[in-house]
Amino acid sequence: MESLIEKYLHVRAPGRINLLGEHLDYNHGVVLPAAIDKCFDLEFKPLPSATFRILALDIEEQLEFQLSELNSLQTEGWKNYVKGVFILLGIEQCAPNLKNGLQISISSSIPIGAGLSSSAALCCGLAFGLNAYFELGKSKMELALIAQQTEHQFAGVQCGLMDQVASLFGKPNQLMAFDCLSQEVQHFSLPLKGAQLFLVDSRVKHNLAESAYNKRRQQLEAAFEIAQQLFPDLNNWRALSSEMRGQLRSIIDSETAARLTYVLDEMQRVSEVQELCHHLDLDIHNDHTEQVLKNLGSLLSQTHVGLKDLYEVSCEELDFLQTKITSLPYVYGARMMGGGFGGCLLVLAAQEFEPTKDLAATFEHYFEKFDIHSIFYPIQIANGVHLITHD
Ligand code: GLA
Repeated sequence: MESLIEKYLHVRAPGRINLLGEHLDYNHGVVLPAAIDKCFDLEFKPLPSATFRILALDIEEQLEFQLSELNSLQTEGWKNYVKGVFILLGIEQCAPNLKNGLQISISSSIPIGAGLSSSAALCCGLAFGLNAYFELGKSKMELALIAQQTEHQFAGVQCGLMDQVASLFGKPNQLMAFDCLSQEVQHFSLPLKGAQLFLVDSRVKHNLAESAYNKRRQQLEAAFEIAQQLFPDLNNWRALSSEMRGQLRSIIDSETAARLTYVLDEMQRVSEVQELCHHLDLDIHNDHTEQVLKNLGSLLSQTHVGLKDLYEVSCEELDFLQTKITSLPYVYGARMMGGGFGGCLLVLAAQEFEPTKDLAATFEHYFEKFDIHSIFYPIQIANGVHLITHD
């Protein structure tokens, strides 16, 4: 029987920030991300013939195909993600006798290469929209896993699940604690009394980002195998005691040991940040709030140092900006965010800090040294992937 679908959908899919827990999503940790007000907009509308046409409006490119030729499509760049999501969602099998096709027009306000997970947002928005359009009945977590697999199988990045969960599960003004072992998501608020979070974009993205990311993951996975040979009951890094850690360190190479130190320190910092956020959520006296914010900022800056010296995923440009910005009055702390080798710094500063004015001299120095214009983005914590209704 031939089927005809006549539906119009508008899907909004956000990028993300991550307060803390960098590179912990594939290392058995808890991460603290949130969806933000920079997003993809995807408009789905039926086409009269059985053609699928995907329009990337910002870059004036398009991909057109019939479902039957999906597997043999030669794609690159953003088109890999489209192909991956269609294949992994099994659209061809779900809509075998489809009479009409579908046009998806895509535009984005997420700066590309800034470490705000534009590719995860694209995959999550597509998967969410196709799930609604074809009534596939998949849960948000299933969609997150499909979006992650798209990165693994069609873009060659062995990423964790943080970006997809942040994009799909975001809630306005709420961060989330995503436990990457149990896949449990818990929302919490971060009332920044008298403080602000914003991003500073280094506007660099070094080429080795993807290969270095995959290498970090392999190094930690290999170390975990060794750890399990030593301690057969060990299920995850969280269960590694300091005694076990000492034994393991004596047999793994020093580079891997440094990476592991970063992971275990970062797990500790995540617990401390959760505790501090809890304090901020309770209505605590003002003097105390200032101290809590200082501690929070200090933990962000410590993470930067760990990512730079132990995990070695920072770069000269990010380090330059981080050092300059954290020495400015009213700044509590700052760190590189996301996979690394470029992208954004996340900055926590007092409300008195005025980014436009107070970052001007730093941006001038940055331009003199690297010949690159850095910029800052204010951020709002936003809703996760959702349908927009038009009246
Ligand atoms: C990238 C990956 C995520 C995560 C971060 C680092 O954004 O896609 O899975 O590993 O890097 O925290």
